[in-house]
Amino acid sequence: MRQVLVIHGPNLNLLGTREPEIYGGATLEEINRELQEAAGKYGVSVRIIQSNHEGVLLDAIHQAGESVDFIIINPGAFTHYSIAIHDALKAVNIPAIEVHLSNIYRREEFRRHSVVAPAVLGQITGLGKEGYLLALEAAARYLGKKVHDA
Ligand code: DQA
Repeated sequence: MRQVLVIHGPNLNLLGTREPEIYGGATLEEINRELQEAAGKYGVSVRIIQSNHEGVLLDAIHQAGESVDFIIINPGAFTHYSIAIHDALKAVNIPAIEVHLSNIYRREEFRRHSVVAPAVLGQITGLGKEGYLLALEAAARYLGKKVHDA
């Protein structure tokens, strides 16, 4: 079965209570549950991690090089300055989609640039938690899996 790694970056563990008017009311656990349910539908296996530490995210990307077919990543604030995450994604050369709950292009100036974006296939931004589910569907389709109706 194809393996998809979902990586949630810093502060995303606080979803549900963190600025819900911007990030929505769903908790990370709820989002992860929906991703696992969708994974069953798409016939892929999903592993999910969250960390507030850049090095932990880097290690997860490096280890993915051995077993993972696709990465879905919300790098949180690291989006805007972590050249290291950009470099790690390039180094492992695993197809990836960058997801943001909020539309980073409608927000403060400092959020309008992603240093990660040039290292991924594409970006889904501003669609709330649906963005993760759309990214998983895109990943499954990219990996050539047949998408079954629920
Ligand atoms: C975010 C957007 C980032 O600018 C912010 O630092 C986050 C969340 C999003 O999902 O909208 O932590 O990645």
